[in-house]
Amino acid sequence: MKMIVTGGAGFIGSNFIFYMREHHPEYELVCVDKLTYAGNMETLAPIMGQPHFQFVRADIADREAMYQLFEAEKPDVVVNFAAESHVDRSIEDPAVFLQTNIMGTQVLLDASRKYGVQRYHQVSTDEVYGDLPLDRPDLFFTEKTPLHASSPYSASKAGADLLCGAYQRTYDMPITISRCSNNYGPYQFPEKLIPLMIANALDGKPLPVYGEGLNVRDWLYVEDHCAAIDLILEKGTVGQVYNIGGHNEKHNIDIVKTVLHILDRPESLITHVTDRKGHDRRYAIDPTFIHDQLGWLPQTRFEDGIQKTVRWYLDNKPWWEKIVSGEYRDYYERMYAHR
Ligand code: NAD
Ligand code: DAU
Repeated sequence: MKMIVTGGAGFIGSNFIFYMREHHPEYELVCVDKLTYAGNMETLAPIMGQPHFQFVRADIADREAMYQLFEAEKPDVVVNFAAESHVDRSIEDPAVFLQTNIMGTQVLLDASRKYGVQRYHQVSTDEVYGDLPLDRPDLFFTEKTPLHASSPYSASKAGADLLCGAYQRTYDMPITISRCSNNYGPYQFPEKLIPLMIANALDGKPLPVYGEGLNVRDWLYVEDHCAAIDLILEKGTVGQVYNIGGHNEKHNIDIVKTVLHILDRPESLITHVTDRKGHDRRYAIDPTFIHDQLGWLPQTRFEDGIQKTVRWYLDNKPWWEKIVSGEYRDYYERMYAHR
């Protein structure tokens, strides 16, 4: 079995590669990554040079490069994690989101069709459903919820999902899609809520909470996401969308307080800043379908997952300290200086 994993130098893609190495050591993995600001070769260092693994630096939207790669490797399976993934950056500059997330997906679909891959899996997000009101805890996203994206990021992911559906129906391609809720865990780039709050708390910097911090996200430990994708690849039905989430909804402010509590830092570090434009209020996945069909259930309780995550950032300071310098500093200044 040969599998192309795109975006494998990023947060979830790298965790997926490590997960697959452990659970399917016989698989040949080809990681394709452009190494944008979010891709990090240090993350992949432990696996570089090992048998059954190769790294290819390339842009998924580069048609020639992808066709050459597919021709050379003849992959059985493609799992597409590669994306521009940060909502705030998409609000600042949407163009690259459309280029990578939509055009890149189209190139991968064309390559998968041309070279006859046995399965193309698109890693999508619950954000394609838009948001839910805060005062209706009875409402959840199911696979039948209409797409209703709010940000340029989520619109680009919804566009990619629609393309996958269209290619599956028109060309009868073996495509599956998963839509997951917010992930947390090791190797997450510290522009996202949890690692940003951990890094700032450790540096004694203010913790910037958008608005009142009452928006709700549904948190899933990254390894549980990887296990779900593995199951979909093995037992999933072609043409099917699978929602992945663990009924673990939290207000942002409570996440931030939990991080401070674990690190024994004062809540006075919390600073309320101007809200995100078009800020989605609540995400909440109904995971009944994947549970009933494939038997998937999350294994990590939030209380344990957040402890493990904070511990990882404490134990791996050099990994994120290098990131929070250079380009990141300019980004942070642009995003947070005038909020
Ligand atoms: P990330 O930003 O940490 O990593 C993205 C990776 O893609 C990076 O390694 C980057 O270099 C690479 N990449 C970007 N553009 C590329 C291109 N044109 N060609 C090749 N590689 C490119 O993202 P993440 O949080 O790991 O998310 C991975 C996927 O999962 C994304 O598709 C995202 O939409 C989806 N997702 C993320 C979450 C979450 O909570 N983080 C939840 C649900 C779904
Ligand atoms: O739901 C899945 C999505 O989760 C993925 O598709 C995205 O790729 C991923 O980035 C994530 O999107 P969010 O916008 O939910 O994640 P983020 O970590 O950026 O923000 C989480 C919440 O925290 C959100 O309500 C905004 C808030 N926030 C975020 C940052 C960075 C703050 O209050 N302060 C901050 O500094």
